[in-house]
Amino acid sequence: MTNRNFEISVAPMMDWTDRHCRYFHRLIAPHVRLYTEMVTSGVILHGDRDRFLRFDPAERPLALQLGGSDPAALAACTAIAAPYGYDEINLNCGCPSDRVQSGKFGACLMNDPALVARCVGAMQEKSPVPVTVKCRIGIDNSDNYSFLNNFIKEVSKAGCQKFIIHARKAWLNGLSPKENRDIPPLDYARVHRLKQDHKNLAIILNGGLEGIVSIQKHTSGLDGAMIGRAVYRNPFLLADLAQEFYGIIPERSREDIAMAMIPYIDRQAKDHGTPVKSITRHMIGLFHEQPGGRRWRRYLSENAHHDGQTGAVIEQALSFMQGADEQDAPSKAA
Ligand SMILES: Cc1cc2nc3c(=O)[nH]c(=O)nc-3n(C[C@H](O)[C@H](O)[C@H](O)COP(=O)(O)O)c2cc1C
Repeated sequence: MTNRNFEISVAPMMDWTDRHCRYFHRLIAPHVRLYTEMVTSGVILHGDRDRFLRFDPAERPLALQLGGSDPAALAACTAIAAPYGYDEINLNCGCPSDRVQSGKFGACLMNDPALVARCVGAMQEKSPVPVTVKCRIGIDNSDNYSFLNNFIKEVSKAGCQKFIIHARKAWLNGLSPKENRDIPPLDYARVHRLKQDHKNLAIILNGGLEGIVSIQKHTSGLDGAMIGRAVYRNPFLLADLAQEFYGIIPERSREDIAMAMIPYIDRQAKDHGTPVKSITRHMIGLFHEQPGGRRWRRYLSENAHHDGQTGAVIEQALSFMQGADEQDAPSKAA
């Protein structure tokens, strides 16, 4: 099913999809859309903004995800971010953590669509690129179609044309963010109904998508699929997705990708003092379920953090893999 208009993206994941991770993902697959981790308006306005906003041009197409609920502050952040050259600015209305609720942003914003509409409108005024929203299908006891539909209606009137919907509700009290990604059941049908009622909007499905088969099964008629944990666990899945959905034949093998990261690792260490482990930690899953994959993971985990380590650790890990034995073969039970 080749369709370049169908959007495949990697979900924003705090502490995971930092710029090193994105650079690595981009080497695996061109065209797939990448998202930053959520960056709060406070960090951009009062913190080390360049640390969170700068990125390598190779990462594009790239969306910046903002967290906040004050229209003026979000507009100011959007204006500050504009010269960096992002392709999309996304507002987080889906994160359920306590820290996020106390600042009144994330999933609790779904209770206040008028405020989200004001945020989107203010951001759009300062943005040369589309402003989009990532949300849940509901929160707490507001877990029904009309709640979601009303939210989407009101926010789209403010100019948002694309919604990424994590197809499970968030429980704002009693469940941790991690539990909120697994316990509330997925309801893909509600997202499909939304698309039926809003054919003019781009509706991207997120939550529990594991690979080509599940994307094909669950996104027919929708505008895209956003995948989070499955890609982080098995990054080379991105090459398969780019081939299946965009007809892009992978140019690089897993080994080529590993080798291509060496100059990046050494450049980051030289220019920014970045520890090697901060980059290699995202690469642990590169040989997921491949012969030697466990040895790759083990070598990096045990050696990347050593003082004075360089990108050469990648070559060493690749040669360590050559000693792969039977135990490393993919598990038949998986
Ligand atoms: C470690 C981690 C951090 C996350 N951080 C964010 C975030 O910063 N912003 C956001 O909108 N969602 C965040 N999420 C949620 C993901 O974007 C996604 O909605 C969720 O994992 C469901 O998709 P999946 O089943 O494909 O993983 C995070 C998820 C994980 C696992």
